[in-house]
Amino acid sequence: MLNKKTVRDVQVGGKRVLVRCDFNVPLSKEDPSKITSDKRIVESLKTINYLINAGARVVLCSHLGKTGQNKSLAPVAKRLSELLDKKVELLTDILSDETKEFVMAMQDGDVCLLENTRKYEEEEANDEEFSKKLASLGEIFVNDAFGSAHRAHASTEGVTHYLPAVSGFLIEKEIEALDGGINNPQRPLVAIVGGSKVSSKIAVLTNLLDKVDTLLIGGAMMFTFVKAQGGETGNSLVEEDKIEIAKEIIAKAEEKNVKLILPVDTIAAEEMNENSNAIICKPDEIPEGFMGLDIGPKTVELFEKEIELAGTVVWNGPVGVFEISKFANGTNAIARAMAESEAITIIGGGDSAAAVEKAGLEKEMSHVSTGGGASLELMEGKKLPGIEALQDKE
Ligand code: 3PG
Repeated sequence: MLNKKTVRDVQVGGKRVLVRCDFNVPLSKEDPSKITSDKRIVESLKTINYLINAGARVVLCSHLGKTGQNKSLAPVAKRLSELLDKKVELLTDILSDETKEFVMAMQDGDVCLLENTRKYEEEEANDEEFSKKLASLGEIFVNDAFGSAHRAHASTEGVTHYLPAVSGFLIEKEIEALDGGINNPQRPLVAIVGGSKVSSKIAVLTNLLDKVDTLLIGGAMMFTFVKAQGGETGNSLVEEDKIEIAKEIIAKAEEKNVKLILPVDTIAAEEMNENSNAIICKPDEIPEGFMGLDIGPKTVELFEKEIELAGTVVWNGPVGVFEISKFANGTNAIARAMAESEAITIIGGGDSAAAVEKAGLEKEMSHVSTGGGASLELMEGKKLPGIEALQDKE
């Protein structure tokens, strides 16, 4: 549960409220002025509308892309204007006198958006002066950028040193779903962990072993586990230096009485493309020259059964190369099984959220996180600096 103050706990009427959102939305490669998924914008509306209705003067900020890419939030300002049905002015220079003057002249219920915080190197450096400048634009700080809560940057953490800082509704919702799902679940708690590398999931796996009843492992990372058990993995991706860790995870699962299920079959091919010749084989009997790229049909059945029996299902990481339709069946089947299940279903953001969205099943899930890295760190049992820095609930 979130033990931090929220917008409900502060008087916002007539005040300048600086709101950090995560408007780091995907843009079309062909036309970068086009947003390909506005989920993060839509999810921020509850907080923004609450503030508008309470008569706050709403100053929004966010990063977009990486430092140095200099992307503009103009498409976000446009989309926000449409969704809120009111003009959202984009202030192009956070540090200018014009911006300060504009914000000081705002009326109750007005909304503006500051340009991409990562246009300034000071943002990621969590620079004190930059944080102060940003903070000077508000009287209260609301962090609603769950997707960026694992970053201790000026606009997520730095500003909290200079303003009363509380959480927005999206952070509250994310913490309730993700933290509640893992630490206070309806049992049995089934976790599905996929993705290509064990190395990026060690902390998640270790943390989840203390919480879950059943752990289903898919994605290319399964082959490091298969290798740890002495299997023939052909050309599949194996992290040789993580084999010992995979062995430890298997041993820990046994010790903790966690039902750890590894795939019993895989879809393998010589090349990772749509035209490759795919075969079904056992993950520990992959022919020379072939690599495993998805879970096979028997594994799908096995995983579906576990999902059906679950009280809560938490999913992080696709179980195959779902971007290529030939290897997307396992990931789509997991999404469908979760959508049909009576269990509380939680999608941990990033690639699994993208897969669920692609399958059009987002609405069928209890919660689809807006955070990739942030939800991963939360599942690792880590504290998120952007949330830690907020005022504690009394
Ligand atoms: C994300 O997309 O995961 C967040 O917006 C954080 O972005 P970052 O990884 O570039 O900090």
